[in-house]
Amino acid sequence: MRLGERPATAVALAAAALLLTAGSVPGSGTVPKTPTAAPVVKATPAASPSRPPLKDFQRPVTDCTVHKCVALTFDDGPGDHTGRLLDLLSAAKAKATFFVVGGQAVQYPDLVFREVEEGHEVGNHTWHHTQLDAASTARIKREVEGTSKAIERILGFKPTLMRPPYGATDSRVAKIAKSNGLAEIIWSVDTDDWLDRKSSVVARRAIRGLRPGAIILLHDIHPTTVAAVPAILRAAKKKGLTLATVTDVLGGRLEPGKKYMGR
Ligand code: NI
Repeated sequence: MRLGERPATAVALAAAALLLTAGSVPGSGTVPKTPTAAPVVKATPAASPSRPPLKDFQRPVTDCTVHKCVALTFDDGPGDHTGRLLDLLSAAKAKATFFVVGGQAVQYPDLVFREVEEGHEVGNHTWHHTQLDAASTARIKREVEGTSKAIERILGFKPTLMRPPYGATDSRVAKIAKSNGLAEIIWSVDTDDWLDRKSSVVARRAIRGLRPGAIILLHDIHPTTVAAVPAILRAAKKKGLTLATVTDVLGGRLEPGKKYMGR
């Protein structure tokens, strides 16, 4: 989501985050002054996935020097609609990237597992959906490292991608991303799907942005976004585009700490 966005639920969510912060990320500090759409994090211990972490997992790679590739990215989940989205992507043999928030990942570990098992990438979107450039350096570290660790506990390996919430980053974030082996992924196409909860509008904006090298921002927590996906998949196919993960669209071997925008 963008800077300056103030969802109606932000105050309630920020209050929930304030109550739960101490128990959610070890040693977590105060909630940033700017209200952010922090997910509601359960104070109970993290759920475990029903299967053991993957060992020596090899993600199927799409060669984007051969195919004309586009990256669909889905932020802020997993959530109640992620399973349906995975079914749609699987039926179309499309790959995507999921930037998960730590608080959601530990509530839906099986969905995080499924995302990777079905060939998608999972990236770090902080624990509380924190606006990192407004947070203390210690807090940035906790938000990023706590989330990477939670993902590792579920999957058996750490993510290599992160997306700072609202695309808000600075040199401190870049440094912490680098030391955690994370490339920062922004986007080149914003569908504003959090604002306009109308599938036809979301689909139209995404379809307009379908071009080789594009990184398209979507949110799998909105049912209207998931409902827009079949039309996006059909349009991509018609344009001869392959839907691939962010790493593949960017040609693989991303540099930790570097910021990528897409085309
Ligand atoms: Ni977000």
